[in-house]
Amino acid sequence: MRTQVAIIGAGPAGLLLSHLLHLKGIESVVLESRLREDIESTIRAGVLEQGTMDILEQAGVGERMRTEGALHEGFELLFGGRRHRIDLRALTGKAITVYAQHEVIKDLVAARVAAGGCLLFGVRDVAIHGMSSDCPSVSFVHEGQLSQVEADFVIGCDGSQGVARPAMPQAGRKDHQRIYPFGWFGILVESAPSAAELIYARHERGFALVSTRSPTVQRLYFQCDPRDSVDNWPDERIWAELHARLENREGWRLNEGAIFQKNIIGMRSFVSTPMQSGRLFLAGDAAHIVPPTGAKGLNLAVGDVKLLAQGLEQFYHRGNDGELASYTENALKRIWRAEYFSWWMTSMLHTFDDASSFQRELQRAELENVVASRALATALAENYVGAF
Ligand code: FAD
Ligand code: DHB
Repeated sequence: MRTQVAIIGAGPAGLLLSHLLHLKGIESVVLESRLREDIESTIRAGVLEQGTMDILEQAGVGERMRTEGALHEGFELLFGGRRHRIDLRALTGKAITVYAQHEVIKDLVAARVAAGGCLLFGVRDVAIHGMSSDCPSVSFVHEGQLSQVEADFVIGCDGSQGVARPAMPQAGRKDHQRIYPFGWFGILVESAPSAAELIYARHERGFALVSTRSPTVQRLYFQCDPRDSVDNWPDERIWAELHARLENREGWRLNEGAIFQKNIIGMRSFVSTPMQSGRLFLAGDAAHIVPPTGAKGLNLAVGDVKLLAQGLEQFYHRGNDGELASYTENALKRIWRAEYFSWWMTSMLHTFDDASSFQRELQRAELENVVASRALATALAENYVGAF
């Protein structure tokens, strides 16, 4: 098999890249290890920045997001028993949309299938060859058959556990990492939203987040031990913890409902550089990870593939590889700002077991400053909506 661009991974990065390339008349093949029904039902991120919405809209895959997603013009910070609204629209002129990642995946898969795109699900033993030559290739097993796709470029969009990053030459590589001593316990609940907007809460017992998925489903998270097991958390214990962390002096109460999914995710910040070697490029979680507090993971993946699509268009239609050559440099500017923001939100809102009373008071004072100062609130809002 021969194509122009071989893409490993059908997450948001791989699927959107394939779709954007198709719109520019560039062929690609997407190789995905999981099945279509798995990628279309895995619960992950939920917040789309305005820039992400604009890209999906311009690419013709924004209709369901526009009609079924919920536009949020602000969110709340809850600490010291009080809620404080960050008015995204007033501070930045922009907003975010809450629309589940697996719905974005469904929209992108549908668009690729409708356009006759080549998406192979359930592939095994993916391996990259000849990335320093002009004709790299990817071998894989599909439906029991060993196959090979030859391409001009290979793009690793295969997430944090994929094969593309480990295939990069080790000489000259630099990884930057911070592992946090906590995780998030996430639940999906059958009930009406408890609040019109997201609530990010700091409490002595730990962080909590109120989000939604639809008018009948809530997405709730709370800080937990990353080594804990969902089996230790019967529903009553979860509700007691969430009520303790979220209820405040203003009499607001969290809606309960049937919990139909529980999961725990670990949290880390990670950037691996460079994001290119020869004809192999990395995009999205394959190259960088953020803790979920700033809701940036999916949005960063979209930012990377926007740059790659532009670079590949320049290469194929204008015979110029300038943008591809500066991909790492250009992508890292945005990535490090998002890494900083995600670290800041995480540090400001979570409890750290080893924090001194001095550090705890500073953390509280920082939140007080953010809501008291329009300048600081604007900085928070700009980062949250991705105003850059
Ligand atoms: P992925 O979505 O990880 O896609 C990579 C794809 O590559 C997958 O479909 C995978 O099956 C495939 N793949 C892997 N290895 C191979 C291989 N060898 N061969 C072929 N295919 C392969 N972000 C938030 O902002 N908020 C959240 O609440 C949130 N929750 C998350 C929960 C979990 C459990 C995880 C893992 C991530 C979460 N994130 C969250 C982050 C966000 O979902 C990611 O940043 C986003 O999915 C990145 O997209 P991607 O396309 O780069 O990678
Ligand atoms: C959601 C996830 C996040 O990481 C976040 O910061 C806000 C919302 C969500 O899953 O809805």
